[in-house]
Amino acid sequence: MRLILAPMQGLVDAPMRDLLTRIGGFDECVTEFVRITHTVHSRSTWRRYMPEIEHGCRTPAGTPCTLQLLGSDAENMAVNALEAVRFGADKIDLNFGCPAPTVNKHQGGAVLLREPERICRIVQTLRQALPPEIPLTAKMRLGYEDKTLAVACAQAIEAGGAALLTVHARTKVEGYEPPAHWHWVARIREAVSLPVVANGDVFSLEDYLTIRRESGCDDVMLGRGAVMVPDLARQIARHNRGLPPKAADFAEERVWIRQFFDLCRSKEENGKYAVARLKQWLGMMKKVRPQAGEWFERIRTVREADDVARLLAEEV
Ligand SMILES: Cc1cc2nc3c(=O)[nH]c(=O)nc-3n(C[C@H](O)[C@H](O)[C@H](O)COP(=O)(O)O)c2cc1C
Repeated sequence: MRLILAPMQGLVDAPMRDLLTRIGGFDECVTEFVRITHTVHSRSTWRRYMPEIEHGCRTPAGTPCTLQLLGSDAENMAVNALEAVRFGADKIDLNFGCPAPTVNKHQGGAVLLREPERICRIVQTLRQALPPEIPLTAKMRLGYEDKTLAVACAQAIEAGGAALLTVHARTKVEGYEPPAHWHWVARIREAVSLPVVANGDVFSLEDYLTIRRESGCDDVMLGRGAVMVPDLARQIARHNRGLPPKAADFAEERVWIRQFFDLCRSKEENGKYAVARLKQWLGMMKKVRPQAGEWFERIRTVREADDVARLLAEEV
């Protein structure tokens, strides 16, 4: 019954992984995708995407972190994966689900779900290149336009030698529109023998229990729900241990909001990144937390990090 924090480009970066894994409940997390084109990334690029590489591939709370790669040039992906391993990455995940038009135009992400053989070749090339002790996993959507190749893609990933598969239960065309088709994860799970992780639209403990029931999967990946309800994984983990879920109150969340802002500020000097990230996060949290909405309104038009810090320090 493992809980995994989803890779989310521009949203779950190192400070967010740090914060959410500190809050607790997660067994693992994954970096934002690192796009592989025709170059080989330098050590500083790997460190930028995955500072955890310098700390045994763990977040400061000790949660293991996997490096995710996205691309379609199998050979160059393998060269990059080996470089990342040389600098310390100890687990690699492959992205076959990104819906971004620029990525798809360059044959990366979800567009590959039209070509299971190509997916198989990518997984196989990386599996053969990587040392056997480095686990290789993959993450897919149910398809590009439709779900006709969903099972074939999962089987291709298995045939290529992946150790685990996460399924985001939607096609590319379905974007992020509810509902996620959890029963399709069950179909895939029944058609392969590698472990399958269910993903998509888990925003509450009830959703978690339902996705597990409908998909038949023990392991679940949480994405947007974990950002909107920062203690969602902790609540679920408590429930799984037979304890009352005990949701956080806003006093506790306020501490996390300040902590997150500080973590972001320590990453960059001028503070612009920290201000933007905080607004983004509060903008998501306010959908479920009216108090987060009040904080969002207070800082919405503020541009300077020092001014935001002053407002955050005030008691509301
Ligand atoms: C802003 C954003 C960025 C994402 N970036 C990635 C990514 O880098 N790699 C990936 O495999 N999936 C990415 N995803 C997909 C999520 O990992 C996840 O599969 C999806 O959001 C469904 O799960 P959820 O309903 O729990 O959010 C992204 C999703 C969002 C909303």
